[in-house]
Amino acid sequence: MTTYLVTGANRGIGFEFCRQIKESGETVIAVCRSTSEDLNALGIQVQQGIDITQEQSVADLVVSLKNTPIDVLINNAGILKKNTLSQLDFDGIRQQFEVNALGTLRLTQALLPNLGAGAKIAIITSRMGSITDNTSGNSYGYRMSKVALSMAGKSLSIDLQPRQIAVAILHPGLVSTEMTAHNGIPPAEAVKGLLARIHQLNLENSGTFWHANGEVLPW
Ligand SMILES: NC(=O)c1ccc[n+]([C@@H]2O[C@H](COP(=O)([O-])OP(=O)(O)OC[C@H]3O[C@@H](n4cnc5c(N)ncnc54)[C@H](OP(=O)(O)O)[C@@H]3O)[C@@H](O)[C@H]2O)c1
Repeated sequence: MTTYLVTGANRGIGFEFCRQIKESGETVIAVCRSTSEDLNALGIQVQQGIDITQEQSVADLVVSLKNTPIDVLINNAGILKKNTLSQLDFDGIRQQFEVNALGTLRLTQALLPNLGAGAKIAIITSRMGSITDNTSGNSYGYRMSKVALSMAGKSLSIDLQPRQIAVAILHPGLVSTEMTAHNGIPPAEAVKGLLARIHQLNLENSGTFWHANGEVLPW
């Protein structure tokens, strides 16, 4: 039995991760700021009240998980705020760094004692954080924070290699959730691909930036 932990689990892609993992018969711990009816209906362990930008909040999660071993940590929580060059909102940009990059790194570091040899970490970044792929500009805070997140994922893959923990840096595709005003492919399709990438992840390919469809993306 594999134990997964998913952040941002109350809705969107995070909820769909929990649904598919539960359906596959594995154990999933759902982490969120506040739970949802859909999440409660899954009948899985829910850790709510966890804001990944708050040191104390993450410390509370560590305490309540005690020494529960985690086989797969899925860092999915994230935010997108629109920033154009003519309407830069520095507080909004800072907030995206706080959640997307720093929050993910904080939670990952805090849970490392729960991850043993053979464990995996999935970082849900975005192709919008690919410098090579940026042909349309805009979205300063989101793009910059996702570059920082992907870089954290790459460093984690190197630093955790001796501990035999593999790290995947993943783009889900354009997925229909609140974040995209429900434009894109169904979350079920994206998560099926993301889980396939997580299954494919090993110590040899650790640190790869993959699209959910299996394509290796350029930094
Ligand atoms: N949808 C896409 O097309 C797409 C494309 C590329 C990458 N992604 C990435 O995929 C991930 C999931 O996105 P989504 O589309 O499912 O978006 P979503 O529906 O907006 O869900 C975002 C999740 O992140 C949680 N979250 C936000 N701030 C948080 C915080 N400070 N602490 C803890 N949790 C927090 C939200 O919780 P609350 O309900 O409490 O706000 C929610 O559960 C994100 O990292 C996103 O950047 C999505």
